[in-house]
Amino acid sequence: MCGIVGYVGPREAAGVLLDGLSRLEYRGYDSAGLAVAHRRKVTVRRTAGRVEDLRTLLGDAPPPGRSGVAHTRWATHGEPNEANAHPHTDASGRVAIVHNGIVENADALRGALTARGVVLRSDTDSEALAHLVAEALDGGAATLADAVRTALAGVEGTYGLAVLDARTPDEIVVARNGSPIVLGIGDGEMVVASDLAAVVRHTQKVVFLDDGEIVTVRADGIEGSTRIGPTTVDTGSEDYALGGHPDFLAKEIAEQPDAIRRALAGRLDTRFATARLGGLEMDPRELRGVRRVLFLGCGSAYYAGEIGAGLVEQLARIPAAAEPAGEFRHRNPVVDPDCLYVAVSQSGETADTLAAVQELRRKGGRVIGAVNVIGSAISRECGTGVFLHSGPEVSVASTKAVTTMGVSFAMLAVLLGRVRDLSVADGRRLLDGLAALPRHVEAVLADDAAHGTVAAVAQRWAHASSMFFVGRTRCSPVAREGAQKLKEISYCHAEAYPASELKHGPLALVTPDMPSVVVVPDDELLGKNVGTIEQIRARGGPVIAVTDAELPAGLADAVLRVPRTEPELAPILLGIPLQLLARHTAVALGRDVDRPRNLAKSVTVE
Ligand code: G6P
Repeated sequence: MCGIVGYVGPREAAGVLLDGLSRLEYRGYDSAGLAVAHRRKVTVRRTAGRVEDLRTLLGDAPPPGRSGVAHTRWATHGEPNEANAHPHTDASGRVAIVHNGIVENADALRGALTARGVVLRSDTDSEALAHLVAEALDGGAATLADAVRTALAGVEGTYGLAVLDARTPDEIVVARNGSPIVLGIGDGEMVVASDLAAVVRHTQKVVFLDDGEIVTVRADGIEGSTRIGPTTVDTGSEDYALGGHPDFLAKEIAEQPDAIRRALAGRLDTRFATARLGGLEMDPRELRGVRRVLFLGCGSAYYAGEIGAGLVEQLARIPAAAEPAGEFRHRNPVVDPDCLYVAVSQSGETADTLAAVQELRRKGGRVIGAVNVIGSAISRECGTGVFLHSGPEVSVASTKAVTTMGVSFAMLAVLLGRVRDLSVADGRRLLDGLAALPRHVEAVLADDAAHGTVAAVAQRWAHASSMFFVGRTRCSPVAREGAQKLKEISYCHAEAYPASELKHGPLALVTPDMPSVVVVPDDELLGKNVGTIEQIRARGGPVIAVTDAELPAGLADAVLRVPRTEPELAPILLGIPLQLLARHTAVALGRDVDRPRNLAKSVTVE
């Protein structure tokens, strides 16, 4: 949520900053701006709208200068207009700051600044930081870093911060508390950013800042301690490039077979018919001691957690559930020492999920992470867990991360099952099923690419004003995630119901104008799901069946087929056509599929 870039080096900063911003745009895209230092003067350019609008504003004459900071915003405090766009400056225009996160005591700080005669020009919580840094400099701080330290001493909340001072244009100061900052160490230049996407184009040698650190960055190095030493990341700039795909969503959907292969690599123990998840750091005795599992996440990560809960209950025969992390953290939960809590997050940054983890740790709960981004706040706070290895995800709607969450939870469930009553034969069956998943996903994608199967369904119903998504037991979360995906990116209203609930109310809405997507796995409840379809059709409702079963001819108005898989794993595979359905619908309606309105990829604020 919101993207930060900074640059110090021999090149003209504006170009590097603009390029970095466009790579971070998925984090927020309602206003953008940059500040560049040149001849002891800072020039700021900002605009409401997207990075492209900022590029247009700068035209052929971007401000000169070899250091600068820039920002792309997802509004929290104050509407997304130019005044609220970052960078913010102090009254003299000497100090420019870009900030991610939330200053929780902003009202008090703004009040105190106003009382001291400072005129505030925006509605943001961030602007106060620029004035506080300037006050500290005027008050005699020896260095910019000292001034930032003094300013932050009175700040409550979270920040990833980059600060530029006109009088020391050869340096920028960065600080982190709960909102990521990464330093890219180039050859005689430094690029700082809120995530790798803006850095890996220039260098793969990076330092992740730790919470509480304040560091001065110059072209030739870093001053101030960094607790986490330099590492070389294996993500390259191609991971953040479209590579011939029309949008990142299409790219990430297509990458799923490889993402699953990476998630499974080295983790299937065929000899003992179990999974090898060394990152959990739990021996068989500890695994046996787990009496309950609770998955915590937000949005798609929460729905993936529901799939995980179903898998754990089926395979390990212990109670399991999922809960939105933002609910859990606020309800003063009873923390059960025998429960294994699983914090689920693609980004590893989501504020509600992080807060749930912190609450658990304060109460002595055992919490592991299921996280994609290595080194992220949630993975660090958890300390142990399963990395998803899905590769960077750029499109706001999560796809490959959700799929690798399902795969990781299947392995976790097999592991928990095999220290209990899951037989060797069942363990093997599931490992074989997991190993076959990448091929099955390939088949689904290839079929759509060759025959336009899902695209045709999307075209046919793209203008429906509302849709039902229906799934039973283990596939109920598949329906919920399918509905979520559709509304996120196509803005078509969609509602998910467990199949058994349909007759208790929602059926009243079924008409020929209300299509239902029914998820039908080839499992022990196939007959019941066929019955559900018949009930809907009896009321004139069109039905799109998503299935790995052979359904009676003419049962549904359209059928989206996936290869037959193990029933327990079907929720993972049956989600794929629903991703395609959402994307094709969004494309048919001319939506910006990667950047849906009002949303952002990582929600690092409450
Ligand atoms: C935002 C995104 C969703 C995502 C959720 C959780 O709401 O728009 O796509 O599922 O955050 O993100 P996480 O990074 O924690 O998985």
